[in-house]
Amino acid sequence: PAARCAGKDSGRCNSSIRKNEAKVVTMVDVEDIAGQAAFCRCWKTKNWPYCDGSHGEHNKQTGDNVGPVVVKKK
Ligand code: FES
Repeated sequence: PAARCAGKDSGRCNSSIRKNEAKVVTMVDVEDIAGQAAFCRCWKTKNWPYCDGSHGEHNKQTGDNVGPVVVKKK
């Protein structure tokens, strides 16, 4: 199963996204969001920073229950 996201010795959350950077920080201008946007919290998406549904396979493999944060414009 994939490494879980907990504790220094038990694995890393991020296995593929911008690994050459010391810290992944993503800025999104709220004005660029049309209607709503789902942002990945599982670090498995192929479309960072957006959710592409990859959390489903991650949850299945690990027993986790993570999903995206959805930002909506009123
Ligand atoms: Fe990561 Fe959906 S793909 S939260």
